Amino acid sequence: MTTLDPPYLHPEYRSTVLRSPGKALVMPPAGMTELTGPKFGAGDVRDTDADLTMHGNGEPIGERIIVHGRVTDSQGRPLRASLIELWQANSAGRYIHQGDQHPAPLDPNFVGAGRVLTDDDGHYRFVTVKPGPYPWRNHDNAWRPAHIHFSLFGRAFTQRLVTQMYFPGDPLFYQDPIFNAIRDEKARQRLVSAYDHSATRAEWATGYRFDIVLGGADATPMED
Ligand SMILES: [Fe+2]
Repeated sequence: MTTLDPPYLHPEYRSTVLRSPGKALVMPPAGMTELTGPKFGAGDVRDTDADLTMHGNGEPIGERIIVHGRVTDSQGRPLRASLIELWQANSAGRYIHQGDQHPAPLDPNFVGAGRVLTDDDGHYRFVTVKPGPYPWRNHDNAWRPAHIHFSLFGRAFTQRLVTQMYFPGDPLFYQDPIFNAIRDEKARQRLVSAYDHSATRAEWATGYRFDIVLGGADATPMED
C-alpha cells in the first residue's frame, strides 16, 4: 500500500469500520511460487472477451463506449502481456449479483465482465457500455458515481491490483466516500478517465482513455 492509496479505515465509507485491520499487517516473504508464476497468457483469453457487448443474443442497452489506455511501471516501461479484468454495472446501474436487488432492470444481453491482455506497448482496449450510477446504502441516499472496476496482475497471480475507473465530470463525486478516501487530489484525479475523441468509432461508439501507472510518484491509486 502506498501513501496514495485509500486508507483501510475511512469511517465515512461505512463497511471499512468493521473490516479494517486493528493491527499492523505482516507480509510473508515472497518465494519462488509467488514470484515466478503461474501466469495468465494468450491461451487463457479469447479476443471476444474484450468486447462486453458481444455475449448476449443482441446488443445491450446503453451508450456503447471504447475504453483503452496503457499500463506502465514507475519508469514508464510498458507492462506487456498482462491480464486486465474488468467488471461493472449495466447502463441502468445494476449488477448481476444476488446482493444487488435494487429496482433497476437487468439486461439479458449484458453480463458486465471482460478481460484482455496488454500488447507489447502495454496497451489495452475494451468495448462496453457506459455503466449507470447505483445506490448503495452507505449513508442516506448514497449513490456511487459511474465506475468500472479494474484488476491487474503483476509478474504472477499473487500480485493482483484492483482499482476503479471513473468518468469525467460525474456529478456524484462530491458525496462518494470511496472516491474521496483518496485524500490526494491529484492522485484521485488519476482515477478519472479522459474523454478521447481519437478512440471513438464514427456512428458506433464514443471513447475514453484510462492509463494505469503501477508504483512511483504518479501511481494510479489501488485498493488493497
Ligand atoms: Fe461497483
